Amino acid sequence: MAALVALRVLGLFAGGKRAKAPRLPVTAMGLEFGNPLGLAAGFDKNGCAIQGLAALGFGFLEVGTVTPRAQPGNPRPRLFRLAEQRALINRLGFNNDGMDQLAARLRTSRRPVPIGVNIGKNRDTPLPRAVDDYRLGFAALAPYADYITVNLSSPNTPGLRALQEPERARELLGALYEDRAALERRSGRRVPIAVKIAPDFAPETLETLLCVLKEVACDAVIATNTTVERPGVGHLRTATEQGGLSGAPLGPRAREIISKVFKALPEIPIIGVGGIVDAAEAWKHLLAGASLLQIYTGLIYEGPGLVHTILAGLGDRVRATGHDDFASALSAARRNLSSGEEPNMVKLS
Ligand SMILES: Cc1cc2nc3c(=O)[nH]c(=O)nc-3n(C[C@H](O)[C@H](O)[C@H](O)COP(=O)(O)O)c2cc1C
Repeated sequence: MAALVALRVLGLFAGGKRAKAPRLPVTAMGLEFGNPLGLAAGFDKNGCAIQGLAALGFGFLEVGTVTPRAQPGNPRPRLFRLAEQRALINRLGFNNDGMDQLAARLRTSRRPVPIGVNIGKNRDTPLPRAVDDYRLGFAALAPYADYITVNLSSPNTPGLRALQEPERARELLGALYEDRAALERRSGRRVPIAVKIAPDFAPETLETLLCVLKEVACDAVIATNTTVERPGVGHLRTATEQGGLSGAPLGPRAREIISKVFKALPEIPIIGVGGIVDAAEAWKHLLAGASLLQIYTGLIYEGPGLVHTILAGLGDRVRATGHDDFASALSAARRNLSSGEEPNMVKLS
């Protein structure tokens, strides 16, 4: 991908210097972030462009999804643009270099911002053995990750989303949280585990999954992955392509899920992702309950300047609440919203 090559080069020249991003410090999952805006999984699957991406001003990066063994992903074409809607449909299918390559890269690379590592299963691993793949991924990568994301929600690996069913989720997450405890006993470091969920749920399925997440004391929920539905784009010919839809049309649906997770599990931090293409949309995800944010498709359409544009817009909204720090501004804005008061920053959208 040309953008990744350019970012690798930028990383070489940035030499550790980062463009000055507005400071909006956030603490979540026991980690400190310089600002709440991260790069979503899938953009830098193999951790090749960490320095260049950090230089764009992101507060954190999520690399992967990586699987135990390298795999080529689905045949091309597998990525489709819906440019007017600022959306993409992808069915890449976890093309990646495998966990050992990524571990080797992370072992030797500087980490200028917190790095999350998103793990999944190989396409040819049968579903009943999926737990083995995730445990291998955790063992190989947790030592080099600030947090691990368990991806249960990509639509392009057949059967993967079935891991969101309560019994399967309980078995998988139970095993990973045990491995995490064992690692903590050995190394003294507790690696947070986040769970990335889909936007496409029957209401009862989401509720039961959230009960499991509460039971295992999940460290964070990432909401959401791409959608297999076609909200607002169904009339387009490209919309018939199989795969997950991302970008602007996903925003309202992702926010609905964020808001349900926030109501059900107010104590668990949410990383809000899906359809953030400007600061107004980013702020809405935060008001719905997200503590941190991620972007992918917006970056493709708006370019790397989007990181600063969003952070500057969030800075304006924080100041408009009259609070100095991000966390108090956000709680105040959420309180205003629930009490029906018209917050000042609505004018900024
Ligand atoms: C081309 C492409 C590849 C993606 N690959 C992954 C992936 O490997 N793992 C994952 O968890 N999410 C993946 N995603 C989903 C994104 O991380 C994100 O959840 C989704 O695109 C919604 O955010 P956005 O609207 O800002 O793009 C991918 C998205 C796109 C567009």
